[in-house]
Amino acid sequence: MPRAYWEAKDSKDDLKKEVQKKFAVGYPKDNIIFQQPDRAILYQDGKLVMDVDITKEQELVDVVRQFFEYRAPAIAQWEKAAEEFGDRVKDHATALLDLIRTQEKTNKKFIDAFAAFMQLCRQSINPNLAESAVEEMLIQHLLTERIFRSVFNNPDFAQRNIIAVEIEKVINALTSKHFSRAHFLSSLDRFYGAIEETAATIDDFSQKQDFLNTVYEKFFQGFSTKVADTHGIVYTPQPIVNFMVKSVEEILQREFGKSLVDKGVHILDPFVGTGNFIMRVMREIAEIQKSALPHKYEHELHCNEVMLLPYYIASMNIEHEYFEQTGKYEAFEGICLVDTFEDQRIEQLGLFTPENMKRVERQRESDLFVVIGNPPYNVGQLNENDNNKNRKYTTKNKTGIDDRVAATYAKASKATLKNKLSDPYVKAIRWASDRIGEEGIVALVTNNSFLDQIAFDGMRQYLEKDFDQIYVFDLGGNIRKNPKLSGTTHNVFGIQVGVSVNIFVRKR
Ligand SMILES: C[S@@+](CC[C@H](N)C(=O)[O-])C[C@H]1O[C@@H](n2cnc3c(N)ncnc32)[C@H](O)[C@@H]1O
Repeated sequence: MPRAYWEAKDSKDDLKKEVQKKFAVGYPKDNIIFQQPDRAILYQDGKLVMDVDITKEQELVDVVRQFFEYRAPAIAQWEKAAEEFGDRVKDHATALLDLIRTQEKTNKKFIDAFAAFMQLCRQSINPNLAESAVEEMLIQHLLTERIFRSVFNNPDFAQRNIIAVEIEKVINALTSKHFSRAHFLSSLDRFYGAIEETAATIDDFSQKQDFLNTVYEKFFQGFSTKVADTHGIVYTPQPIVNFMVKSVEEILQREFGKSLVDKGVHILDPFVGTGNFIMRVMREIAEIQKSALPHKYEHELHCNEVMLLPYYIASMNIEHEYFEQTGKYEAFEGICLVDTFEDQRIEQLGLFTPENMKRVERQRESDLFVVIGNPPYNVGQLNENDNNKNRKYTTKNKTGIDDRVAATYAKASKATLKNKLSDPYVKAIRWASDRIGEEGIVALVTNNSFLDQIAFDGMRQYLEKDFDQIYVFDLGGNIRKNPKLSGTTHNVFGIQVGVSVNIFVRKR
């Protein structure tokens, strides 16, 4: 996609004349610079915007900046609409909630469907799930369903996705007293105007993907702040994802004589978010050996997500990536709507739909070689006594992830205060260590507090025992430790806690 043109001339040319000559033969005028050693002429959108003496430092800087910062009008409009939509996600979700609450009082069909659905969710996700969390799922469904349909031109999503099909039944009951769903939701049309209008002019999928990342973060940070804290809702910066995927491939080759493309190398992202890691792994595979992708995609790529909105986004993103690489649509069956920390409890009921259950079982039976991802970690709360308590995962036979942390990292610790070990990122490292089996790689980007804080002494001891090689890239950024730093500029996630990229290797 051409973004700009640069035409270089030498000092003998008459630059103004050269410009006319080039335009006469059809050079594009949307963003083009004509430059001589001492002069630059910049045209944007058909108009002369700068004609400067570039021997003057500031003028050189100005013209180069103007040139690189150019956004085609359609893209600029789209970006503005995306930002506005993000800013209003909270109002939007609140308006949807009002619509749902009204039906809860008046619509018998919906009341029944909602009660049945709530029971299903409690069985499948969390026995203590609040009614409001289930309402939120409906909101997430309605929000993404419309975005997929009208911004991504993917109207079939809700009929193809195994979870969406189930929730559609509840939504049908929700809107049953109205002439149509569109009529029921018409009061929300105002939120979509600009984004739907500008989407029609954008073909670039990655632009739209950025928009989904914004919706993902803004929904949880603006509307569902508790979930954002306990579940660690932030997407992972692309350079970190790239680095981790490349590192895993290198270690696979060097230490195991294997590659991501090899049959039998199962890969799991247990906290998939919007799907960045899986998509990046797919790109890596396609780059090394494209013919290996279909088998991988069908059998050896796995991921989990516990929230509906990212589950939908990841499903669509991953399926789209596959379509880009192969030209075919193929439903991605490696994604499960499930709580990773719970998923080893075989006795668990339901899990939404039989198909989802089947997928979870298939994943459990897979011999995973690589676990990669960005687990949740508590961003806001300092300790367990804060309001947003993390959920407990214990079982009678002591196989729950909290039991495992207690029996290992906590037991081996000499610290008196061990509550920092209940941070979900600690569970994630424990979980992945247990999950990979006799050999494999765990690559997680996490809070870096386990590197030197006292409460993690037992964890460090175990990590040394559990693995043969450990690579830690400490990216710093602990704002509480160093108040001179700022979260937005000194932390890769723009958060307050320090971050590290960790790669743990276990060899037989
Ligand atoms: C830090 S984000 C991952 C971001 C992802 N790498 C991306 O770039 O989009 C963590 C994700 O894990 C999900 N999550 C948190 N706890 C989970 C659990 N116990 N099981 C499955 N998913 C979970 C959250 O909903 C969130 O979307």
